[in-house]
Amino acid sequence: MSDPDENFEIKRQERIEAAEHIITSYLPREEGRQKTVIEAMNYSVLAGGKRLRPVLMREAYMMFGGRNEMVIGPFMAALEMIHTYSLVHDDLPALDNDEYRRGKKTTHAVYGPGMATIAGDGLLNFAFETALTAAHECQELPEYDGSVSSRMLAALTILAEKAGIFGMIGGQCADIEAEKRTDVTPDDLLFIHENKTGALIESALMIGAILAGASASDVHKMEQIGQNVGVAFQIQDDILDVIGDQDKLGKPVGSDEKNEKTTYVTFYGLEKSKEEVARLSDEALELLRELESQEGHEDIFLEELITWLIHRDN
Ligand code: IPE
Ligand code: IPE
Ligand code: MG
Ligand code: MG
Ligand code: MG
Repeated sequence: MSDPDENFEIKRQERIEAAEHIITSYLPREEGRQKTVIEAMNYSVLAGGKRLRPVLMREAYMMFGGRNEMVIGPFMAALEMIHTYSLVHDDLPALDNDEYRRGKKTTHAVYGPGMATIAGDGLLNFAFETALTAAHECQELPEYDGSVSSRMLAALTILAEKAGIFGMIGGQCADIEAEKRTDVTPDDLLFIHENKTGALIESALMIGAILAGASASDVHKMEQIGQNVGVAFQIQDDILDVIGDQDKLGKPVGSDEKNEKTTYVTFYGLEKSKEEVARLSDEALELLRELESQEGHEDIFLEELITWLIHRDN
């Protein structure tokens, strides 16, 4: 019989390849007077990575019956652009000051901090230019029972909000302010993780569900699943920053210690942090299975992916 881990890994790689194919097709052409900034943008997007957020988005879209690549594709690319910009800026000398990312020199190490800053800005803006192509090109979607009736508008709003001051940027703000402080509380840490990392992961699942035709109540459940997965993902990132392998991670270990960050590991220790990753992921799986049985659609790969994240080493 074939090895279930191997089977899962094959399916994960297939989905990564499909996501990369889509993302690449939306990248800007490296030409014109702005060629250098576009090269720097594409350099960071094409450096690789797990493509977790677009893979999650597509999976959520499929789970709720979505089948139109012209609708979901631009949003997958947009979210990966936003995520990549956040990494380019996170690595800058003024923030975490890291030299490697995705197994390559960071964007600022190659293009200089000025060009890396505007490459990040360029990616953030181009993300919306890209997502808007879906709005221009796709046919009418069924009415949404959320706060707006247009699914396209709802998806664009989530993309904007989860990346902004009430999402990822808000989390990065609290993260910077917590540096070198000794009085960080569990509440502060949870706020940081829910926002700097949870918010984009929530948006992946929510946007996939909305564009496929899910109800507002199901979209809310996807948000909860995303929150659990997101916080668990960042705790695992904190763990790997201590016990991970730089070659597998493609980025330096010890970045948090260097920057005197309070993380789940410094606060609770390794063992408790690992338990928390497993607990949050189990809760996410429970919520997902509830939703699957209620809606009558199952996504085995999504369940396996959430389980894999608990033990990931990259
Ligand atoms: C790194 O994200 C930043 C965090 C939010 C922990 P990923 O671990 O998803 O990075 P890539 O996309 O695989 O490079
Ligand atoms: C950053 O968290 C999360 C972002 C929003 C970019 P980290 O600073 O821990 O991410 P890594 O470890 O550099 O990928
Ligand atoms: Mg950081
Ligand atoms: Mg960092
Ligand atoms: Mg980290």
